[in-house]
Amino acid sequence: MSRLVIVSNRVADLRVSTQTGGLAVGLADAIKERGGVWFGWDGERQGVTGGELHIEKIGKVERVAAPLSPEDVSNYYLGYANSVLWPLFHYRLDLVDYRPAFFDGYMRVNETFAGQLAPFLAPDDLVWIHDYHLIPLAGFLRRLGCRQKIGFFLHIPFPPPDLLAASPNHAELVDALLEYDVIGFQTHTDAGNLKLYLREHISAVQVARNRFSLGERSVLVDRFPIGIDAAGFAAMVGDADEDVQIDLMRRRVLGRRQIIGVDRLDYSKGLPERLKAFGNLLSQHPELEKSVTFLQIAPPTREEVDAYADIRTELETLAGSINGRFADFNWTPIRYIHRSVSRRKLAPLFRGSQVGFVTPLRDGMNLVAKEYVAAQDPDDPGVLVLSQFAGAAEEMRQALIVNPYDIDAMAKMLYRALTMPLKERRRRHATLLEHVTRHDAKAWLKAFLAALDERDGYPAHKSTGTNERPGRATAATQTIARSHPP
Ligand code: ADP
Ligand code: F6P
Repeated sequence: MSRLVIVSNRVADLRVSTQTGGLAVGLADAIKERGGVWFGWDGERQGVTGGELHIEKIGKVERVAAPLSPEDVSNYYLGYANSVLWPLFHYRLDLVDYRPAFFDGYMRVNETFAGQLAPFLAPDDLVWIHDYHLIPLAGFLRRLGCRQKIGFFLHIPFPPPDLLAASPNHAELVDALLEYDVIGFQTHTDAGNLKLYLREHISAVQVARNRFSLGERSVLVDRFPIGIDAAGFAAMVGDADEDVQIDLMRRRVLGRRQIIGVDRLDYSKGLPERLKAFGNLLSQHPELEKSVTFLQIAPPTREEVDAYADIRTELETLAGSINGRFADFNWTPIRYIHRSVSRRKLAPLFRGSQVGFVTPLRDGMNLVAKEYVAAQDPDDPGVLVLSQFAGAAEEMRQALIVNPYDIDAMAKMLYRALTMPLKERRRRHATLLEHVTRHDAKAWLKAFLAALDERDGYPAHKSTGTNERPGRATAATQTIARSHPP
Protein backbone atom coordinates (compact mmCIF):
# COMPACT_ATOMS: atom_id res chain seq x y z
CA MET A 1 0.00 0.00 0.00
CA SER A 2 1.38 3.44 -0.91
CA ARG A 3 2.28 5.81 1.88
CA LEU A 4 -0.29 8.53 2.43
CA VAL A 5 0.86 12.13 2.75
CA ILE A 6 -1.84 14.52 3.92
CA VAL A 7 -1.41 18.26 3.73
CA SER A 8 -3.77 20.75 5.31
CA ASN A 9 -3.47 24.25 6.65
CA ARG A 10 -3.86 23.06 10.22
CA VAL A 11 -2.51 19.75 11.46
CA ALA A 12 -4.77 18.36 14.14
CA ASP A 13 -3.28 17.36 17.45
CA LEU A 14 -4.22 13.70 17.39
CA ARG A 15 -3.82 13.43 21.16
CA VAL A 16 -6.65 15.75 22.15
CA SER A 17 -10.38 15.46 21.61
CA THR A 18 -11.31 19.13 21.34
CA GLN A 19 -10.66 19.68 17.62
CA THR A 20 -13.17 22.05 16.15
CA GLY A 21 -13.68 22.23 12.45
CA GLY A 22 -14.81 19.54 10.09
CA LEU A 23 -11.43 19.12 8.46
CA ALA A 24 -9.49 18.35 11.63
CA VAL A 25 -12.19 16.08 12.97
CA GLY A 26 -12.86 14.20 9.73
CA LEU A 27 -9.22 13.71 8.81
CA ALA A 28 -8.08 12.76 12.30
CA ASP A 29 -10.78 10.10 12.33
CA ALA A 30 -9.67 8.85 8.95
CA ILE A 31 -5.86 8.87 9.22
CA LYS A 32 -5.33 7.49 12.75
CA GLU A 33 -5.70 3.92 11.60
CA ARG A 34 -4.02 3.99 8.21
CA GLY A 35 -1.09 6.13 9.31
CA GLY A 36 1.15 8.29 7.11
CA VAL A 37 2.51 11.81 7.12
CA TRP A 38 0.45 14.91 7.98
CA PHE A 39 2.01 18.24 6.99
CA GLY A 40 0.69 21.72 7.74
CA TRP A 41 1.01 24.99 9.60
CA ASP A 42 1.91 24.68 13.29
CA GLY A 43 -0.88 27.15 14.18
CA GLU A 44 1.54 29.61 15.84
CA ARG A 45 1.74 33.22 14.71
CA GLN A 46 5.27 34.28 15.65
CA GLY A 47 7.46 32.01 13.54
CA VAL A 48 9.56 32.45 10.43
CA THR A 49 8.05 31.28 7.17
CA GLY A 50 10.29 28.53 5.78
CA GLY A 51 11.83 28.03 9.24
CA GLU A 52 12.58 24.78 11.00
CA LEU A 53 9.91 22.08 10.84
CA HIS A 54 8.65 20.40 13.98
CA ILE A 55 8.44 16.66 13.35
CA GLU A 56 6.76 14.29 15.76
CA LYS A 57 5.45 10.72 15.60
CA ILE A 58 1.97 10.26 17.09
CA GLY A 59 0.83 6.66 16.83
CA LYS A 60 1.12 5.71 13.17
CA VAL A 61 1.16 9.32 12.01
CA GLU A 62 4.23 11.46 11.41
CA ARG A 63 3.15 15.02 12.14
CA VAL A 64 5.18 17.70 10.36
CA ALA A 65 4.40 21.26 11.45
CA ALA A 66 5.68 24.33 9.63
CA PRO A 67 5.99 27.81 11.15
CA LEU A 68 4.64 31.01 9.60
CA SER A 69 5.58 34.64 10.16
CA PRO A 70 3.00 37.07 11.60
CA GLU A 71 2.87 38.81 8.21
CA ASP A 72 2.10 35.56 6.40
CA VAL A 73 -0.53 34.51 8.94
CA SER A 74 -2.13 37.84 8.30
CA ASN A 75 -2.00 37.80 4.49
CA TYR A 76 -2.33 34.09 3.76
CA TYR A 77 -4.58 32.73 6.54
CA LEU A 78 -6.61 35.69 7.80
CA GLY A 79 -6.31 37.51 4.48
CA TYR A 80 -6.68 35.54 1.26
CA ALA A 81 -7.98 32.29 2.78
CA ASN A 82 -10.45 33.72 5.26
CA SER A 83 -11.29 37.20 3.98
CA VAL A 84 -11.49 36.32 0.28
CA LEU A 85 -11.91 32.61 -0.43
CA TRP A 86 -14.04 31.72 2.60
CA PRO A 87 -16.75 34.37 2.01
CA LEU A 88 -16.56 33.97 -1.78
CA PHE A 89 -16.95 30.17 -1.65
CA HIS A 90 -19.81 30.58 0.85
CA TYR A 91 -21.62 32.85 -1.63
CA ARG A 92 -21.00 35.95 0.52
CA LEU A 93 -19.61 38.45 -1.97
CA ASP A 94 -20.65 41.24 0.40
CA LEU A 95 -18.02 40.08 2.89
CA VAL A 96 -15.09 39.63 0.50
CA ASP A 97 -12.19 41.93 1.40
CA TYR A 98 -9.87 41.63 -1.57
CA ARG A 99 -6.34 43.05 -1.34
CA PRO A 100 -3.44 42.20 -3.68
CA ALA A 101 -1.09 41.68 -0.71
CA PHE A 102 -3.36 38.86 0.47
CA PHE A 103 -2.96 36.97 -2.79
CA ASP A 104 0.80 37.49 -2.79
CA GLY A 105 1.00 36.12 0.76
CA TYR A 106 -1.19 33.16 -0.22
CA MET A 107 1.06 32.24 -3.14
CA ARG A 108 4.23 32.81 -1.09
CA VAL A 109 3.12 30.47 1.69
CA ASN A 110 2.02 27.79 -0.78
CA GLU A 111 5.36 28.02 -2.56
CA THR A 112 7.25 27.79 0.73
CA PHE A 113 5.21 24.80 1.89
CA ALA A 114 5.92 23.08 -1.45
CA GLY A 115 9.64 23.62 -0.96
CA GLN A 116 9.48 22.17 2.55
CA LEU A 117 7.28 19.24 1.62
CA ALA A 118 9.01 18.10 -1.59
CA PRO A 119 12.07 16.55 0.15
CA PHE A 120 9.71 14.38 2.23
CA LEU A 121 8.04 12.81 -0.76
CA ALA A 122 8.88 9.35 -2.05
CA PRO A 123 8.00 8.48 -5.67
CA ASP A 124 5.11 6.15 -4.77
CA ASP A 125 3.45 8.37 -2.18
CA LEU A 126 -0.17 9.33 -2.56
CA VAL A 127 -0.37 13.02 -1.76
CA TRP A 128 -3.70 14.37 -0.54
CA ILE A 129 -4.04 18.14 -0.16
CA HIS A 130 -6.96 19.68 1.69
CA ASP A 131 -9.02 22.79 1.47
CA TYR A 132 -9.02 26.29 0.10
CA HIS A 133 -5.85 27.43 1.85
CA LEU A 134 -3.71 25.20 -0.35
CA ILE A 135 -5.20 25.24 -3.86
CA PRO A 136 -1.90 26.26 -5.57
CA LEU A 137 0.25 23.73 -3.71
CA ALA A 138 0.21 20.99 -6.38
CA GLY A 139 1.31 23.47 -9.04
CA PHE A 140 4.31 24.50 -6.96
CA LEU A 141 5.14 20.85 -6.23
CA ARG A 142 4.97 20.04 -9.95
CA ARG A 143 7.41 22.85 -10.66
CA LEU A 144 9.80 21.23 -8.21
CA GLY A 145 9.59 18.03 -10.23
CA CYS A 146 7.07 16.13 -8.07
CA ARG A 147 5.21 13.68 -10.30
CA GLN A 148 3.33 11.78 -7.57
CA LYS A 149 -0.39 11.30 -7.78
CA ILE A 150 -1.79 14.36 -6.04
CA GLY A 151 -5.41 14.74 -5.01
CA PHE A 152 -7.28 17.77 -3.70
CA PHE A 153 -10.34 17.82 -1.50
CA LEU A 154 -12.35 20.96 -0.87
CA HIS A 155 -14.13 20.84 2.50
CA ILE A 156 -16.20 23.95 1.82
CA PRO A 157 -18.65 24.78 -0.97
CA PHE A 158 -17.46 25.66 -4.48
CA PRO A 159 -19.40 28.54 -6.01
CA PRO A 160 -21.00 28.76 -9.46
CA PRO A 161 -18.84 30.36 -12.21
CA ASP A 162 -20.71 33.67 -12.02
CA LEU A 163 -19.75 34.07 -8.38
CA LEU A 164 -16.24 32.74 -8.74
CA ALA A 165 -15.63 35.29 -11.48
CA ALA A 166 -15.87 38.02 -8.85
CA SER A 167 -12.41 37.04 -7.66
CA PRO A 168 -9.69 38.73 -9.68
CA ASN A 169 -7.70 35.48 -9.42
CA HIS A 170 -10.38 33.03 -10.48
CA ALA A 171 -8.52 31.83 -13.56
CA GLU A 172 -5.33 31.23 -11.61
CA LEU A 173 -7.29 29.31 -8.99
CA VAL A 174 -8.97 27.05 -11.52
CA ASP A 175 -5.74 26.48 -13.44
CA ALA A 176 -4.05 25.61 -10.16
CA LEU A 177 -6.80 23.07 -9.46
CA LEU A 178 -6.10 21.45 -12.82
CA GLU A 179 -2.61 20.47 -11.61
CA TYR A 180 -4.24 17.79 -9.43
CA ASP A 181 -5.09 14.28 -10.58
CA VAL A 182 -8.34 14.19 -8.60
CA ILE A 183 -10.39 17.20 -7.50
CA GLY A 184 -12.88 16.15 -4.84
CA PHE A 185 -15.90 18.04 -3.53
CA GLN A 186 -18.49 17.44 -0.85
CA THR A 187 -21.56 17.53 -3.09
CA HIS A 188 -22.85 17.14 -6.64
CA THR A 189 -23.62 20.86 -6.61
CA ASP A 190 -20.01 21.81 -5.86
CA ALA A 191 -18.53 19.39 -8.40
CA GLY A 192 -21.13 20.60 -10.91
CA ASN A 193 -20.06 24.20 -10.38
CA LEU A 194 -16.45 23.44 -11.31
CA LYS A 195 -17.61 21.40 -14.30
CA LEU A 196 -19.69 24.35 -15.48
CA TYR A 197 -16.63 26.58 -15.29
CA LEU A 198 -14.44 24.01 -17.05
CA ARG A 199 -16.86 23.69 -19.95
CA GLU A 200 -15.66 27.15 -20.98
CA HIS A 201 -12.01 26.37 -20.38
CA ILE A 202 -9.62 26.62 -23.32
CA SER A 203 -7.58 23.52 -22.57
CA ALA A 204 -9.85 21.24 -20.55
CA VAL A 205 -12.09 19.00 -22.63
CA GLN A 206 -14.80 16.99 -20.94
CA VAL A 207 -14.30 13.39 -22.05
CA ALA A 208 -16.59 11.63 -19.56
CA ARG A 209 -19.13 12.66 -16.93
CA ASN A 210 -16.39 13.26 -14.36
CA ARG A 211 -13.26 13.47 -16.45
CA PHE A 212 -11.58 16.36 -18.23
CA SER A 213 -8.70 15.84 -20.63
CA LEU A 214 -5.82 18.29 -20.64
CA GLY A 215 -3.87 16.85 -23.57
CA GLU A 216 -1.57 14.14 -22.28
CA ARG A 217 -3.19 13.89 -18.86
CA SER A 218 -6.66 14.03 -17.43
CA VAL A 219 -8.31 15.18 -14.23
CA LEU A 220 -11.12 13.52 -12.31
CA VAL A 221 -13.75 15.85 -10.83
CA ASP A 222 -16.09 14.09 -8.43
CA ARG A 223 -17.90 14.27 -5.14
CA PHE A 224 -16.71 12.42 -2.04
CA PRO A 225 -18.96 13.44 0.86
CA ILE A 226 -16.98 13.41 4.09
CA GLY A 227 -18.12 11.18 6.96
CA ILE A 228 -17.47 10.89 10.67
CA ASP A 229 -16.26 8.06 12.88
CA ALA A 230 -19.89 7.24 13.63
CA ALA A 231 -19.23 4.19 15.77
CA GLY A 232 -16.51 5.98 17.76
CA PHE A 233 -18.75 8.99 18.34
CA ALA A 234 -21.71 6.84 19.37
CA ALA A 235 -19.46 5.00 21.83
CA MET A 236 -18.83 8.29 23.64
CA VAL A 237 -22.47 8.92 24.55
CA GLY A 238 -22.26 6.88 27.73
CA ASP A 239 -19.29 8.85 29.01
CA ALA A 240 -21.14 11.93 30.29
CA ASP A 241 -19.13 13.75 32.96
CA GLU A 242 -20.70 15.02 36.15
CA ASP A 243 -21.73 18.43 34.76
CA VAL A 244 -23.56 16.90 31.82
CA GLN A 245 -25.23 14.25 33.98
CA ILE A 246 -26.53 16.85 36.43
CA ASP A 247 -27.81 18.95 33.56
CA LEU A 248 -29.59 15.94 32.04
CA MET A 249 -31.15 14.95 35.34
CA ARG A 250 -32.34 18.45 36.06
CA ARG A 251 -34.05 18.68 32.69
CA ARG A 252 -35.60 15.26 33.13
CA VAL A 253 -37.06 16.22 36.50
CA LEU A 254 -38.38 19.50 35.11
CA GLY A 255 -39.70 17.79 31.95
CA ARG A 256 -37.70 20.23 29.90
CA ARG A 257 -36.64 19.42 26.34
CA GLN A 258 -33.52 20.78 24.69
CA ILE A 259 -32.75 22.03 21.20
CA ILE A 260 -29.00 21.99 20.52
CA GLY A 261 -26.71 23.79 18.07
CA VAL A 262 -22.92 23.37 17.92
CA ASP A 263 -20.90 25.45 15.48
CA ARG A 264 -17.78 27.56 15.23
CA LEU A 265 -19.00 31.14 15.59
CA ASP A 266 -18.97 31.73 11.85
CA TYR A 267 -21.29 33.94 9.82
CA SER A 268 -21.88 31.03 7.43
CA LYS A 269 -23.62 29.05 10.18
CA GLY A 270 -26.82 31.14 10.25
CA LEU A 271 -26.75 31.62 14.02
CA PRO A 272 -28.75 34.87 14.27
CA GLU A 273 -31.47 33.39 12.07
CA ARG A 274 -31.50 30.31 14.31
CA LEU A 275 -31.93 32.34 17.48
CA LYS A 276 -34.68 34.38 15.88
CA ALA A 277 -36.50 31.20 14.82
CA PHE A 278 -36.36 29.97 18.41
CA GLY A 279 -37.70 33.33 19.58
CA ASN A 280 -40.57 33.01 17.07
CA LEU A 281 -41.31 29.51 18.33
CA LEU A 282 -41.72 30.83 21.86
CA SER A 283 -43.93 33.69 20.64
CA GLN A 284 -46.14 31.36 18.60
CA HIS A 285 -46.38 28.67 21.28
CA PRO A 286 -46.55 30.21 24.75
CA GLU A 287 -47.34 26.72 26.07
CA LEU A 288 -43.69 25.83 25.42
CA GLU A 289 -42.43 28.37 27.93
CA LYS A 290 -40.32 26.70 30.59
CA SER A 291 -40.58 23.38 28.80
CA VAL A 292 -37.91 23.89 26.13
CA THR A 293 -34.43 25.44 26.09
CA PHE A 294 -32.03 26.13 23.29
CA LEU A 295 -28.36 25.35 23.96
CA GLN A 296 -26.02 26.93 21.43
CA ILE A 297 -22.32 26.11 21.73
CA ALA A 298 -20.28 28.41 19.50
CA PRO A 299 -16.53 28.63 20.11
CA PRO A 300 -14.58 31.62 18.79
CA THR A 301 -12.89 31.37 15.43
CA ARG A 302 -10.82 33.77 13.23
CA GLU A 303 -11.63 36.65 15.55
CA GLU A 304 -9.14 39.03 13.95
CA VAL A 305 -11.33 39.17 10.82
CA ASP A 306 -13.93 41.96 11.21
CA ALA A 307 -16.87 39.92 9.95
CA TYR A 308 -16.31 37.44 12.81
CA ALA A 309 -16.20 40.16 15.46
CA ASP A 310 -19.45 41.54 14.00
CA ILE A 311 -21.27 38.21 14.15
CA ARG A 312 -20.25 37.74 17.78
CA THR A 313 -21.70 41.10 18.79
CA GLU A 314 -24.87 40.43 16.83
CA LEU A 315 -25.37 37.04 18.42
CA GLU A 316 -24.75 38.18 21.96
CA THR A 317 -27.17 41.07 21.56
CA LEU A 318 -29.82 38.80 20.11
CA ALA A 319 -29.45 36.10 22.77
CA GLY A 320 -29.68 38.81 25.45
CA SER A 321 -32.79 40.33 23.96
CA ILE A 322 -34.64 36.99 23.49
CA ASN A 323 -33.70 35.91 27.01
CA GLY A 324 -34.73 39.29 28.37
CA ARG A 325 -38.12 38.90 26.72
CA PHE A 326 -38.93 35.35 27.77
CA ALA A 327 -36.76 34.32 30.73
CA ASP A 328 -38.16 33.62 34.15
CA PHE A 329 -36.29 33.30 37.42
CA ASN A 330 -35.92 29.52 36.98
CA TRP A 331 -35.81 29.32 33.17
CA THR A 332 -33.29 30.80 30.71
CA PRO A 333 -34.58 29.98 27.22
CA ILE A 334 -31.22 30.39 25.41
CA ARG A 335 -27.98 29.12 26.88
CA TYR A 336 -25.09 30.33 24.80
CA ILE A 337 -21.58 28.96 25.39
CA HIS A 338 -18.75 30.72 23.60
CA ARG A 339 -15.98 28.14 23.97
CA SER A 340 -14.80 24.77 22.80
CA VAL A 341 -16.24 21.68 24.44
CA SER A 342 -14.55 18.28 24.36
CA ARG A 343 -16.08 15.77 21.99
CA ARG A 344 -16.57 13.46 24.98
CA LYS A 345 -18.94 16.05 26.38
CA LEU A 346 -20.56 16.84 23.05
CA ALA A 347 -21.71 13.28 22.40
CA PRO A 348 -23.83 12.96 25.59
CA LEU A 349 -25.10 16.51 25.09
CA PHE A 350 -26.35 15.56 21.63
CA ARG A 351 -27.86 12.39 23.05
CA GLY A 352 -29.75 14.35 25.70
CA SER A 353 -31.15 16.88 23.21
CA GLN A 354 -34.49 16.27 21.53
CA VAL A 355 -33.72 18.45 18.49
CA GLY A 356 -30.46 18.97 16.60
CA PHE A 357 -30.76 22.42 15.02
CA VAL A 358 -28.25 22.68 12.15
CA THR A 359 -29.09 25.58 9.89
CA PRO A 360 -26.07 27.06 8.11
CA LEU A 361 -26.73 29.60 5.36
CA ARG A 362 -24.16 27.65 3.33
CA ASP A 363 -21.89 24.81 4.44
CA GLY A 364 -19.56 22.37 2.71
CA MET A 365 -20.92 19.36 4.57
CA ASN A 366 -21.60 19.98 8.29
CA LEU A 367 -20.36 17.16 10.46
CA VAL A 368 -22.44 18.26 13.43
CA ALA A 369 -25.53 17.00 11.58
CA LYS A 370 -23.91 13.55 11.30
CA GLU A 371 -22.67 13.58 14.90
CA TYR A 372 -26.13 14.44 16.19
CA VAL A 373 -27.61 11.43 14.39
CA ALA A 374 -24.81 9.09 15.52
CA ALA A 375 -25.34 10.10 19.16
CA GLN A 376 -29.09 9.39 19.33
CA ASP A 377 -30.77 6.52 21.12
CA PRO A 378 -32.35 4.49 18.26
CA ASP A 379 -35.30 3.59 20.52
CA ASP A 380 -36.10 7.19 21.38
CA PRO A 381 -34.20 9.38 18.95
CA GLY A 382 -34.21 13.14 18.62
CA VAL A 383 -35.02 14.95 15.38
CA LEU A 384 -32.52 16.64 13.09
CA VAL A 385 -33.62 19.98 11.61
CA LEU A 386 -31.21 20.65 8.76
CA SER A 387 -30.61 23.53 6.36
CA GLN A 388 -31.17 22.83 2.69
CA PHE A 389 -27.88 24.70 2.10
CA ALA A 390 -25.69 22.34 4.14
CA GLY A 391 -23.85 19.81 1.98
CA ALA A 392 -25.25 17.17 4.35
CA ALA A 393 -28.77 17.87 3.04
CA GLU A 394 -27.85 16.17 -0.25
CA GLU A 395 -27.48 12.89 1.66
CA MET A 396 -29.65 13.30 4.77
CA ARG A 397 -33.09 13.59 3.21
CA GLN A 398 -34.82 12.07 6.24
CA ALA A 399 -33.97 15.12 8.33
CA LEU A 400 -36.52 17.94 8.49
CA ILE A 401 -35.09 20.13 5.75
CA VAL A 402 -35.49 23.90 6.17
CA ASN A 403 -34.66 27.12 4.38
CA PRO A 404 -32.47 28.97 6.93
CA TYR A 405 -33.50 32.36 5.52
CA ASP A 406 -37.16 31.63 6.25
CA ILE A 407 -37.35 32.26 9.99
CA ASP A 408 -41.04 31.59 10.31
CA ALA A 409 -40.77 28.26 8.50
CA MET A 410 -37.86 27.31 10.79
CA ALA A 411 -39.97 28.08 13.86
CA LYS A 412 -42.74 25.86 12.48
CA MET A 413 -40.24 23.09 11.75
CA LEU A 414 -38.94 23.29 15.31
CA TYR A 415 -42.48 22.82 16.55
CA ARG A 416 -42.94 19.84 14.25
CA ALA A 417 -39.68 18.34 15.53
CA LEU A 418 -40.69 18.82 19.16
CA THR A 419 -44.07 17.19 18.61
CA MET A 420 -43.11 14.42 16.20
CA PRO A 421 -44.56 11.01 17.14
CA LEU A 422 -42.09 8.36 18.28
CA LYS A 423 -42.82 6.11 15.30
CA GLU A 424 -41.89 8.79 12.78
CA ARG A 425 -38.80 9.78 14.78
CA ARG A 426 -37.59 6.19 14.79
CA ARG A 427 -38.25 5.72 11.09
CA ARG A 428 -36.40 8.86 10.08
CA HIS A 429 -33.52 8.25 12.45
CA ALA A 430 -33.01 4.62 11.38
CA THR A 431 -32.47 5.66 7.77
CA LEU A 432 -30.16 8.52 8.74
CA LEU A 433 -28.13 6.37 11.11
CA GLU A 434 -27.70 3.65 8.54
CA HIS A 435 -26.35 6.20 6.09
CA VAL A 436 -24.02 7.95 8.55
CA THR A 437 -22.63 4.61 9.73
CA ARG A 438 -22.11 3.17 6.28
CA HIS A 439 -20.59 6.35 4.82
CA ASP A 440 -18.20 7.07 7.67
CA ALA A 441 -14.78 8.72 7.75
CA LYS A 442 -12.99 5.54 6.77
CA ALA A 443 -15.28 4.95 3.80
CA TRP A 444 -14.61 8.53 2.68
CA LEU A 445 -10.84 8.09 2.89
CA LYS A 446 -11.04 4.77 1.06
CA ALA A 447 -13.20 6.14 -1.75
CA PHE A 448 -10.99 9.16 -2.34
CA LEU A 449 -7.71 7.25 -2.20
CA ALA A 450 -9.06 4.52 -4.50
CA ALA A 451 -9.97 7.18 -7.06
CA LEU A 452 -6.53 8.78 -6.71
CA ASP A 453 -4.68 5.49 -6.90
CA GLU A 454 -6.46 4.58 -10.13
CA ARG A 455 -5.23 7.71 -11.91
CA ASP A 456 -2.43 7.42 -14.46
CA GLY A 457 -0.36 10.03 -12.74
CA TYR A 458 1.50 13.04 -14.04
CA PRO A 459 3.55 12.35 -17.19
CA ALA A 460 7.24 12.20 -16.21
CA HIS A 461 8.39 14.38 -19.09
CA LYS A 462 5.65 16.98 -18.87
CA SER A 463 6.80 20.54 -18.46
CA THR A 464 4.76 22.51 -15.97
CA GLY A 465 5.18 25.75 -17.86
CA THR A 466 7.54 28.62 -17.47
CA ASN A 467 5.22 31.04 -15.74
CA GLU A 468 6.47 32.43 -12.48
CA ARG A 469 3.32 31.12 -10.86
CA PRO A 470 1.36 27.99 -11.57
CA GLY A 471 -1.77 28.69 -13.55
CA ARG A 472 -2.19 30.42 -16.89
CA ALA A 473 -4.73 32.82 -18.34
CA THR A 474 -7.31 30.87 -20.30
CA ALA A 475 -10.19 31.44 -22.62
CA ALA A 476 -12.48 30.84 -19.66
CA THR A 477 -10.83 33.73 -17.88
CA GLN A 478 -11.51 35.94 -20.81
CA THR A 479 -15.04 34.76 -21.49
CA ILE A 480 -16.09 34.95 -17.88
CA ALA A 481 -14.26 38.19 -17.24
CA ARG A 482 -15.91 39.75 -20.32
CA SER A 483 -19.40 38.83 -19.17
CA HIS A 484 -18.63 40.02 -15.63
CA PRO A 485 -16.72 43.28 -15.80
CA PRO A 486 -15.06 44.14 -12.48
P1 ADP B 1 -16.81 23.50 10.14
O1 ADP B 1 -15.85 22.60 9.47
O2 ADP B 1 -17.27 24.62 9.29
O3 ADP B 1 -16.37 23.99 11.45
P2 ADP B 1 -18.48 21.09 10.66
O4 ADP B 1 -19.83 20.99 11.28
O5 ADP B 1 -18.31 20.32 9.43
O6 ADP B 1 -18.16 22.65 10.46
O7 ADP B 1 -17.41 20.56 11.70
C1 ADP B 1 -17.33 21.06 13.00
C2 ADP B 1 -16.63 20.04 13.87
O8 ADP B 1 -16.10 20.73 15.00
C3 ADP B 1 -17.57 18.99 14.41
O9 ADP B 1 -16.91 17.77 14.51
C4 ADP B 1 -17.95 19.53 15.77
O10 ADP B 1 -18.28 18.54 16.72
C5 ADP B 1 -16.70 20.25 16.18
N1 ADP B 1 -17.08 21.40 17.01
C6 ADP B 1 -17.76 22.49 16.65
N2 ADP B 1 -17.96 23.29 17.70
C7 ADP B 1 -17.38 22.71 18.74
C8 ADP B 1 -17.24 23.02 20.12
N3 ADP B 1 -17.75 24.11 20.68
N4 ADP B 1 -16.56 22.19 20.88
C9 ADP B 1 -16.05 21.07 20.37
N5 ADP B 1 -16.16 20.70 19.09
C10 ADP B 1 -16.82 21.49 18.29
O1 F6P C 1 -13.90 22.64 7.45
C1 F6P C 1 -13.74 23.96 7.09
C2 F6P C 1 -12.59 24.61 7.83
O2 F6P C 1 -12.30 25.81 7.25
C3 F6P C 1 -11.31 23.85 7.84
O3 F6P C 1 -10.53 24.02 6.72
C4 F6P C 1 -10.71 24.43 9.05
O4 F6P C 1 -9.69 23.67 9.59
C5 F6P C 1 -11.89 24.55 9.98
O5 F6P C 1 -12.94 24.89 9.16
C6 F6P C 1 -11.68 25.50 11.14
O6 F6P C 1 -11.20 26.75 10.74
P1 F6P C 1 -9.80 27.33 11.18
O7 F6P C 1 -8.76 26.32 10.83
O8 F6P C 1 -9.68 28.59 10.42
O9 F6P C 1 -9.89 27.53 12.65
